Amino acid sequence: MHALSRRVRFGFASRAPMSSSSSSSSAAAAGRVAAGGRDPSENPAVGRLRELVQRGDAADGWEKSWEAGVTPWDLGKPTPIIEHLVKSGTLPKGRAFVPGCGMGYDVVALASPERFVVGLDISSTAVEKAKQWSSSLPNADCFTFLADDFFKWKPSEQFDLIFDYTFFCALDPRLRLAWAETVSGLLKPDGELITLIYLISDQEVGPPFNNTVTDYWKVLEPLGFKVVVMEDNELAIKPRKGQEKLGRWKRFAHRSSL
Ligand SMILES: C[S@@+](CC[C@H](N)C(=O)[O-])C[C@H]1O[C@@H](n2cnc3c(N)ncnc32)[C@H](O)[C@@H]1O
Repeated sequence: MHALSRRVRFGFASRAPMSSSSSSSSAAAAGRVAAGGRDPSENPAVGRLRELVQRGDAADGWEKSWEAGVTPWDLGKPTPIIEHLVKSGTLPKGRAFVPGCGMGYDVVALASPERFVVGLDISSTAVEKAKQWSSSLPNADCFTFLADDFFKWKPSEQFDLIFDYTFFCALDPRLRLAWAETVSGLLKPDGELITLIYLISDQEVGPPFNNTVTDYWKVLEPLGFKVVVMEDNELAIKPRKGQEKLGRWKRFAHRSSL
């Protein structure tokens, strides 16, 4: 069966968002379970993922979760907003990068003769699976999948576009500053960072870890990133409706105060 036609599974967050733009009403909503959703901590697959990733070496945990097929975040298709952005023609062309790409649906959706996309995942099983389903697609020359650690990988060229979806919130929050520094180093000076922010609160552990717009802003702003767009993702899949923000960021050189 083609990977894109697999049944869409859910398991990541279901509670209403808390973000930098949280109003008292959204704060009140934080305790509600979103329609059709579940608290991720009540999803056995998320519980299993958490056990595996927290058991010692996170890289090993991710590999084991892929080997065991414990991938509760996996949509089985590209996230609709990416397809919409591609169609809108507003995305940078050139070179794009998707860290923590998993099955790589978004990698393939972004790839075209004008935009070469690198999908990177720490799990060699994930990368194998991504290659398996995608290698005979018509745009297969326009993307590649690599197994490596985002924090250690050193490409020969920077990127015009970086897309993060459920990667930031999958990382131990102590790595967030390093995530921002790494993103900053991988992006061309005039490049664009897109964070499809999966809002989640009230989690004692992760992944996914508690995640707000402010969490991104705190680590990106000191590096010169500015928000160009921060809006609700109207195209989120049903169980994630109201839980996703589309953030488009550009980095501007720090101005000298002299
Ligand atoms: C929650 S999944 C998201 C996958 C994909 N972005 C999606 O939305 O379907 C997080 C992914 O990040 C990968 N990952 C975790 N730590 C990583 C690291 N340090 N470097 C690269 N990939 C990593 C995991 O193997 C996993 O596939």
